[in-house]
Amino acid sequence: MKLAPSILSADFSDLKTAINQCEKGGADWIHVDVMDNQFVPNLTIGPPVVKSIRPITDKILDVHMMVVEPEKLVESFARAGADIITFHIEATDSPGDIIQLIKSCGCKAGISLKPSTPLETIYPYVDAVDLVLVMTVEPGFGGQGYLPGSDEKISELKTYLKDQCLDRVLIEVDGGVKLHNCKQILENGADVLVAGSAIFKTENPTNTIQEFYNLGAS
Ligand code: DX5
Ligand code: ZN
Repeated sequence: MKLAPSILSADFSDLKTAINQCEKGGADWIHVDVMDNQFVPNLTIGPPVVKSIRPITDKILDVHMMVVEPEKLVESFARAGADIITFHIEATDSPGDIIQLIKSCGCKAGISLKPSTPLETIYPYVDAVDLVLVMTVEPGFGGQGYLPGSDEKISELKTYLKDQCLDRVLIEVDGGVKLHNCKQILENGADVLVAGSAIFKTENPTNTIQEFYNLGAS
């Protein structure tokens, strides 16, 4: 299992502490939620923040773009130091071009879909990406509940990837991931768990990250 704490739920006035907690807890990636107030009704992080974080960690910066016209932001995030850039299938008519653009910038490419978007919409592109980010809440806000039907969607995707010999494509699950449901989500086929409020809204985020790993290994 890989864990990607989402700094969306961290204290934005003290991101350095949040990054240190990720380091100390041994998190694999740091998940950065980018929202443009158009694709989703919230406005968050842009390339300058990624640029500020880049020098203080060697962790993989996992940028999740919830934006319209994602192609306009790819190069800026790549230059700012993103390692993985994920865009939403619902935000573009040219997913293939965006995947190529992300790769040409030297980043790994991810494709994401909302809870109501059928898996079939991403199937034509999965062989070109490094990961599929399955949204298990409506994108836009941290702290929501894991939606019913998500387990089935994850396991259906896992089966599809296996059948297509695309096991190298990681399944990242984002939204409502908590200590109490992480094991079940992994059993359904998730490779990477994103967790925001379940980590940063606890007393000791470093310990909580370690608890996730203990559960993941058990
Ligand atoms: C929601 C974001 C998530 C968010 C998850 O649109 O994509 O990454 O931070 O937050 P929790 O873990 O609190 O559901
Ligand atoms: Zn996210």
